Amino acid sequence: MRLISRTMLLAAALTLPLAATVQGQSDTPYERHLNARQGYMDVLAFNIGTLGGMARGNIDYDAEAAQTAADNLAAMSGVNTRPFWPEGSDNAALGDATRALPAIWEDPEGFGEAWMAYRTAASDMAEAAGGGLDALRGAMGPLGSSCGSCHEDFRQSDD
Ligand code: HEC
Repeated sequence: MRLISRTMLLAAALTLPLAATVQGQSDTPYERHLNARQGYMDVLAFNIGTLGGMARGNIDYDAEAAQTAADNLAAMSGVNTRPFWPEGSDNAALGDATRALPAIWEDPEGFGEAWMAYRTAASDMAEAAGGGLDALRGAMGPLGSSCGSCHEDFRQSDD
């Protein structure tokens, strides 16, 4: 008896989150994909914010904090985000829910190259960030432009 009721509780516990997930999908098409890729980008912004703040002198340089932010960026650059970008999830199809331009799917090679540039710049930053403010500053330009040039080609601009 005891065993059976435990099994039933476990089954109920496993079913509940699944039901919630399926329900959550009905609102916007690709909602969970948009959440995943925009959340991913927010994590990049958080970490580059720490490094940029130190580079500009708004945050005191701290080797350990700089290294942590840079390591996070390098680790994030190893995430395969391909599943976050299903065909048909561009801003021409979905409107304001996303700023992803159709160019992502029209020029997958260019999009892939932009990821590679970011990966290289993040790894260079991970080599530099803990080694002093000058080293951090030296790696900042290429890292910032790796974000910026992908946004220029593949993300709807603000205006
Ligand atoms: C290979 C292309 C690419 C690279 C590299 C890239 N981004 Fe993005 N980023 C995008 C695209 C495309 C979007 C729009 C996503 C959407 O709205 O669905 C975006 C959106 C964002 C957003 C807005 C997220 C939101 O909540 O809507 C932020 C912030 C951001 N990126 C920061 C960064 C930072 C910081 C870096 C570099 C460390 C970076 N990105 C590197 C393509 C890129």
